[in-house]
Amino acid sequence: MEDPIYQFARRIREASRISVLTGAGVSSASGVPTFRGEEGLWKSYSPQELATPEAFERNPKLVWEWYDWRRGLISGCRPNAAHDVLSLWSKRYPEFTLITQNVDGLHEKAGTENVIRFHGSIWEVFCRDRCRSSPERWVDETVPLEKIPPSCPYCGGLIRPAVVWFGEGIDNDVLAKSTAALDCDIFMTVGTAAVVYPAAGLVDAAHQRGAFTVEINLEATSASGAVDLSIQGPAEDILQKVEDLLSQNTDT
Ligand code: OAD
Repeated sequence: MEDPIYQFARRIREASRISVLTGAGVSSASGVPTFRGEEGLWKSYSPQELATPEAFERNPKLVWEWYDWRRGLISGCRPNAAHDVLSLWSKRYPEFTLITQNVDGLHEKAGTENVIRFHGSIWEVFCRDRCRSSPERWVDETVPLEKIPPSCPYCGGLIRPAVVWFGEGIDNDVLAKSTAALDCDIFMTVGTAAVVYPAAGLVDAAHQRGAFTVEINLEATSASGAVDLSIQGPAEDILQKVEDLLSQNTDT
C-alpha cells in the first residue's frame, strides 16, 4: 500500500485547486493553546461565560480580561513549520484557499495568501452598538489594553473583539467565499477537532463535490472516518515532510 505521506504529496502534485481548513492544532506548536483536549482552554474556562454575546452583555470586563490575556499570549507566538509550508503553497499554487477557524493571525504573519478568517480575528474590534461613525471593524493590536473594557473611540460605548462567538452566525461574505473553495481537487482539514459547525461540515461538503479529502491530526476525530486519507501526527512534521517530497521533485 502506498505510504499516506507519499499519497498526499502525489495528490497535491496532481491538483490544481487546493483548499485547506485549519484549526487550533496548527498553532499548537507555536505555543497557542487549543480549545479541547487535556490542555485545552475549555478545560479551565467556560465558553458560556467568555465566548457568547450574552456573556459580553453580562460582564464585558471579564470577557475583555480573557481576550486581553489571550492577545498577550499570542503576541509572543511565531508561526511554525505548518504555517510556513501552507504559506509557501499559497504562493506556489495559483488556486489555493486557506479557511482558518483560528483568530490568532499566525497564517497572515507567515505571509499566507488568500486566507478566509472563518471565526474572525482577535486583532480586530468593532463597536458593540455599531455606531454610525465607526467603521465596520478595525485593527487594534494594543497589548495589553490600556483600559478594560475598552471604549469605542467614535461614540464612547463598548467595543468588542471581531470574533465569532457561540450562537452567532458566520459572515455572509465569508460563507460565500468558503463555499466557493469547496469546488477543489484536494481539500485538507488540519488540526481541527471537527466539532464546531458550520466549519466542521466543510470537509464533507467538499467530498460531496468531488474533492479528494485529507485529514491531518494528532488523533482520530469525528471527520476521520469520512475522509479519503487520514494521517495521524503533528501537522508541523507532516506538512514539512510532504513539502520536502514536493520540493525534491521525486516521483511520488
Ligand atoms: P480544538 O481545540 O477543538 O481542536 C484542536 C485539534 O487539533 C484536536 O483535534 C487536536 O487533536 C489537534 N491537534 C493538536 N495539536 C496538533 C498538532 N500539532 N498537529 C495536528 N493536530 C493537532 O480546536 P478547533 O477544532 O480549531 O471557536 O476548534 C474549533 C473552534 O472551537 C474554535 O475556532 C473556537 C472553539 O470554540 C470559537 O471560539 C467560535
